[in-house]
Amino acid sequence: MIAIASDHRGFKMKAEIMRYFDEHEIKYKDYGTFSEESTDYPEKAKEVALAIQKGKAEKGILICGTGLGMSIAANKFKGIRCTVCYSEDVARYARKHNNSNILALGAEVNTIPEAIEIVRIWLATEFEGERHKMRLEMIEEIENENFK
Ligand code: RB5
Repeated sequence: MIAIASDHRGFKMKAEIMRYFDEHEIKYKDYGTFSEESTDYPEKAKEVALAIQKGKAEKGILICGTGLGMSIAANKFKGIRCTVCYSEDVARYARKHNNSNILALGAEVNTIPEAIEIVRIWLATEFEGERHKMRLEMIEEIENENFK
């Protein structure tokens, strides 16, 4: 299950990604926003991050103008590894090395076909583990020191 959300700037890109999911029978839950009316991205990032923390979704996708605000907000949640990906290569590394569990996209940075390809690769790529696992454990230690 994939939790997906956007702000107003990412609304159209979200709709196209959901259409791709429908066509490929990929399960998702849409956490909004549900129109192009202005909305605040931290609220959407919070909903998707909590869905993952609570085990309601395995992965998440967040879309705003740049993906940056979404990723900053999502990464405030323990256990969230939100990565902004603007290219296919970065999407691959985000999964292989960082075990990214939320993909942040920039609706004003990538075209919709580019974003769909980034999503496809990000979903298809597995975490490599090994030395990268140890580095993620170091991040977990930082979380344990800094989050309640
Ligand atoms: C909204 O105006 C814009 O700031 C948002 O979509 C995003 O780009 C934030 O990082």
